[in-house]
Amino acid sequence: MTFVVRCCVMEFQPGLEDVPVAQSAICHIDGTVGSLLYRGYAIEDLVRHSNFLETAHLLIWGELPPVEDLRTFEHDVYTHRRIKFRIRDVMKCFPESGHPMDALQASAAALGLFYSRRVLDNPLYVRQAVVRLVAKIPTMVAAFQLIRKGLDPIRPRDDLSYAANFLYMLSEQEPEPLAARVLDACLILHAEHSLNASTFSARVTASTLTDPYAVVASAVGTLAGPLHGGANEDVLDMLDAIGSPDRVEPFLDQCLARKQRIAGFGHRVYRVKDPRARILQELAEKLFACYGSDATYDLARLLEQKVEERLAGKGVYANVDFYSGLVYRRLGIPTDLFTPVFAVARVAGWLAHWKEQLGANRIFRPSQIYTGVDPRPWQLHRERGAASD
Ligand code: COA
Repeated sequence: MTFVVRCCVMEFQPGLEDVPVAQSAICHIDGTVGSLLYRGYAIEDLVRHSNFLETAHLLIWGELPPVEDLRTFEHDVYTHRRIKFRIRDVMKCFPESGHPMDALQASAAALGLFYSRRVLDNPLYVRQAVVRLVAKIPTMVAAFQLIRKGLDPIRPRDDLSYAANFLYMLSEQEPEPLAARVLDACLILHAEHSLNASTFSARVTASTLTDPYAVVASAVGTLAGPLHGGANEDVLDMLDAIGSPDRVEPFLDQCLARKQRIAGFGHRVYRVKDPRARILQELAEKLFACYGSDATYDLARLLEQKVEERLAGKGVYANVDFYSGLVYRRLGIPTDLFTPVFAVARVAGWLAHWKEQLGANRIFRPSQIYTGVDPRPWQLHRERGAASD
């Protein structure tokens, strides 16, 4: 067994593709049938019957909580949503032109300055850290959104649900119940997805026994890259660039001829339509039925149909990012906040992996295959020859 594992590593798998780096009981994906389970529960059931905070509790502690525990968790999260004025002051020093993901990474790390005790074997410390991070990340996203517009952040409202309060803090308007419900469902869908790059990053950071704020800051930095969290922004840019139904086919011809990837399609694991995309499409339809149709959504459906006609044979279908941007735009969320909203949700998964990593920790220290030069003698400066122009 050991030999096989060593053999695998020594063969070098770029991107660690198919190399197990952890044993995990948090999430199961079957990419051939398009199923996604959190702790054994199908995401379809969670979206239908649960809410984001209950799902976060399930992911982090492994079981659906009894009602009293859920109420206590909700209460604790709701009452920890405010952020210290000194953190707001730090955020006010960020450049308004900075990307909100950079602001989020810096402010998540700043939280660690205020709550820096690393008593990782104390369940109370772990619970408090979970509550603080789940509670404060949305407040920090919303605070930077207002600060960069020259406004003061809005205080969270204790009477609003998690998702409703987030939308309220972004706009100072209480959202319609449907809008809050749809955002809550989006948060459930983005809460966890096994060992993608940001979750792996969270586990590597966790394995050093640093504090959970550093774990989340590290994961946020990893999520910020366009190959990971940023694709839904690209989908909207792409749909805006296509502009009208008659340009869908020429756009596809051009992409395929140039071997360009079409944003919002394809997945390393799914060989069928991403189950999250299916649910997001239903949510988008509910939103558009209630608030009026959207030409971009009609364009998106046409593009999906045409991509399927051409690429289904390669297992390329719509992924989670294809419809999420359309939903977020309909909810009034600015495009460059799409990835921070992803982070708000994924904090639940990162924290679940942090706790799991601590439960059976071994610091990550992979090997490498050295490709540099052989040992060689030191050269004196005058022996190195003249610098070339
Ligand atoms: N558009 C066009 N062709 C695509 C494609 C896309 N979005 N995604 C995959 N393909 C093609 C590949 O070019 C490859 O074709 P080939 O066999 O002729 O070379 C084939 O489908 C198989 O690709 P695969 O190896 O399964 O993809 P991957 O694992 O390397 O890439 C992604 C997965 C997600 C990186 C890739 O699909 C992609 O870049 N998608 C667009 C960005 C995106 O939406 N990211 C968010 C992911 S949740």
